[in-house]
Amino acid sequence: MSSDLSQAALVPRLRPFTSTVFAEMTSLANQHSAVNLGQGFPDTDGPPAMLEAASEALFDGANQYPPGPGREDLRNAIAGHRARYGLDYDPDNEILVTAGATEAIAASLLALTESGDEIIVIEPYYDSYVAAVALAGATRRVVALTIDEDGRFALDVEAVRAAITPTTKAIIVNSPHNPTGTVFTKPELRALAAVCVEHDLLAITDEVYEHLTFGAEHTPLASFEGMRDRTVSISSAGKTFNCTGWKIGWVCSPPELLAAVRAAKQFMTFVSGGPLQPAVGYALDNELNWVHGLRDQLAGKRQKLTEGLANAGFTVRPSAGTYFVCVDVRPLGFTDATELAWQLPERAGVAAVPVGVFTDNPGDWQHLLRFAFCKRDEVLDEAVTRLAAFG
Ligand SMILES: Cc1ncc(COP(=O)(O)O)c(C=O)c1O
Repeated sequence: MSSDLSQAALVPRLRPFTSTVFAEMTSLANQHSAVNLGQGFPDTDGPPAMLEAASEALFDGANQYPPGPGREDLRNAIAGHRARYGLDYDPDNEILVTAGATEAIAASLLALTESGDEIIVIEPYYDSYVAAVALAGATRRVVALTIDEDGRFALDVEAVRAAITPTTKAIIVNSPHNPTGTVFTKPELRALAAVCVEHDLLAITDEVYEHLTFGAEHTPLASFEGMRDRTVSISSAGKTFNCTGWKIGWVCSPPELLAAVRAAKQFMTFVSGGPLQPAVGYALDNELNWVHGLRDQLAGKRQKLTEGLANAGFTVRPSAGTYFVCVDVRPLGFTDATELAWQLPERAGVAAVPVGVFTDNPGDWQHLLRFAFCKRDEVLDEAVTRLAAFG
């Protein structure tokens, strides 16, 4: 097989179109001077002392390769941070610093799964899971979130159980959840943990929004009975400290799993973010009050956008965390949110993304749009004013 053909076979399996949708939506938003609530990144900076710590590290010579597992000060800070949940990890052999959560997810799947393994992925999903499962040569089994009697997106643990086959190796669990903003409850997680134990599954958890919850509490899956030794817990600094471009992430897991993930990571980036690592360590140790302020501000922004979207006539699904809120477009007379998403920048002066792009079954999600509220208040005010005129 020529290298062109083998590449052509891999690329569709990576489903790289979400980044194309984001890029095209951004360009459409720019073309119509629309308020871009499509992409999930903040438009303000992180804690000033963390930025200073990075700048000092830069001028203090922290510019060569950091140690392979990550700097010791950062690994210690991650251990301290994880201990807040009652989870103890040894910084020497149970913690690994990665190039964002994205590398942690990819390295975990490459290291711990292989061709023939089935991996359960909850739909809608963050797009990198599908790509990483494909890179590992494994097969995904998609299980959809359901909507409960309160209109909240909920985990259907019985559907997870039904999706398990003799070749199921792992499940990827993202809570707080992008794109829906749902935060899995303790009963949901406890039931999921029991299924993982019963079927001897590995859990790969994506907890990048762990601090960005509004009234709901984030509980790591690793803290449930029988889970610590079968869970690869992943998080990163990007969302917690408004520094998505820094790409400092981490993995916490038992030593055997960590050693495997480290082996894969070694040949991906080896190391990254030398001068940023001590700054993130500093922030984990000292800036959680700043993070609580961020969380409270985001709660207000979620409220503002939720009200604006409801006033415009959308049905707003409850969001208890992350940067995102999803709406049903049908009350406004639309049936296809994807079509509407492409018209919205011109017709409403606001950009959003259709939830269908985060799924295997877009038809099941075709009435939903995702809006990001991690923007300055004046940006959200403008979006709300425009949406009111549209609705
Ligand atoms: C659910 C989820 N996981 C992982 C990431 C990526 O994290 P990082 O930037 O640390 O790689 C994102 C970023 O949007 C995300 O929403």
